[in-house]
Formats: sequence, C-alpha cells, structure tokens
Amino acid sequence: MPDASQQLIDALEWRYATKVFDGQRQIDAATWSTLERSLLLTASSYGLQPWKFLVITDAAIRAELRPHSWNQSQITDCSHLVVLLKKRQITAADADQLIQATASTRGIEASALDGYRQMIQVDLIDGPRSQIIGQWSANQVYIALGNLLTSAALLGVDTCAIEGFSPPEYDRILGLETGDYQSCVVCACGYRSQDDKYASLSKVRYGADRLIEHR
Ligand SMILES: Cc1cc2nc3c(=O)[nH]c(=O)nc-3n(C[C@H](O)[C@H](O)[C@H](O)COP(=O)(O)O)c2cc1C
Repeated sequence: MPDASQQLIDALEWRYATKVFDGQRQIDAATWSTLERSLLLTASSYGLQPWKFLVITDAAIRAELRPHSWNQSQITDCSHLVVLLKKRQITAADADQLIQATASTRGIEASALDGYRQMIQVDLIDGPRSQIIGQWSANQVYIALGNLLTSAALLGVDTCAIEGFSPPEYDRILGLETGDYQSCVVCACGYRSQDDKYASLSKVRYGADRLIEHR
C-alpha cells in the first residue's frame, strides 16, 4: 500500500474506544489546536455548521458530569473532554449569517447567493425537515465526531466516543437548558492507560463481503 494509505489504516487499527485513560498525561497545546481545527473543518449540510464544541478541562465540572455518564471513568480521567452540542433550531438568521460569511470570504455579492439561501429556507426553515431539525443537527454533529476520532488517531491521540450520558443532566450542569445549543454526544480524548485491557482486544468488524456492494 502507498505510505498514506498504510498510515491511515494503521491509525484506524490502532485506535479503539479507550475505557481507561492514563489520568496524568495531557495532550499538548499544539496537538490539541490541530484537533480543534479538524472539528472546525468538518463538512456539514449546506455548510451551516449547526454545532458548538465545549472543551471541558475543569476537574470540578467533570466530577459533576461523571455520575450522569454511567459513571464512566473516561469523563474524569481523559485529558480533554469534548461535549459536542447541536443547534436546537435553524432560523432565517442562521441562513443570513452563512450567506454573509460566504459572500465576504469569497468576495462576492450576497445577492448572488439568493438561490442558495432560498434552498435552505424551503428545506430546513419552512419545509418538512424543519419538524425534525434536532435529528438533522445531530446528524451533522456526528460527522464532526467521526472526523475527531479519525484525526485524533492519526495524531496518536486516544479517544472514546460517549453516548452513555444523560443529555438533560448535562444541559442542566452546563447551563444549556435554554439557548441555541444542547448537548448531543461526548468525546473523551487523551492517552490510554497501560492497564486498559481493551487496547489489546481484536477488532470486531464485518467484512466487505457483507457491507460493501459494488454495482
Ligand atoms: C456514537 C458512539 C457512542 C459510544 N458510546 C460509548 C460509551 O458511552 N461508552 C463506551 O465505553 N464506549 C462507547 N462507544 C464505543 C463503541 O462501543 C466502540 O466504538 C465499538 O464497540 C467499536 O469498538 P472500537 O471503537 O474499539 O473499535 C461509542 C461509540 C460511538 C461511535
């Protein structure tokens, strides 16, 4: 395999859902900054980026979150805990903001994007998908989660995606009960403990014969 392909597959084989973090070793600032950048570079439908990423390093907040996370030790023992938030609503203001940002970034008139804005309006703001916007936002957030898992693996950083938590309790503790964003999924990032027996378990994955079809 070419180097880049081998590196990618090696990283994906190396990563696993880390159950026990080292508890001491911290991700350095430069590496963390790269991982934040990978979150920001995530693709989203229409480019709307209906998310926020809450990076929690404060030990007291993490201790408060842990009992509402099936008491999973990753919450308190990882280096950087990310709570990925999804946007509650997509509004005309969100569409306007995206159009403005696109126009100014690309040096074009906002009016040149009227058709694009209209598509967002009739789909997500006025259309049937406005009724399921929470699910739509969550779909986008999970793309960011996948991006983070893969990016971290490529940088030798361990992760554990975490759905085993109570979103209402997280929202209460993090002051998210009102406002534009609510908790969606969590990702613990850091370095594995040598004692984590899960690190040496073989991957359980179905084969291409079952999951990939070429037509
Ligand atoms: C969205 C999502 C949520 C998950 N939630 C948890 C969790 O709460 N606790 C946990 O220990 N593992 C969690 N996992 C890890 C999965 O169990 C794990 O990825 C899967 O068994 C495959 O194993 P591997 O990632 O080690 O290859 C989650 C994974 C994903 C993608």
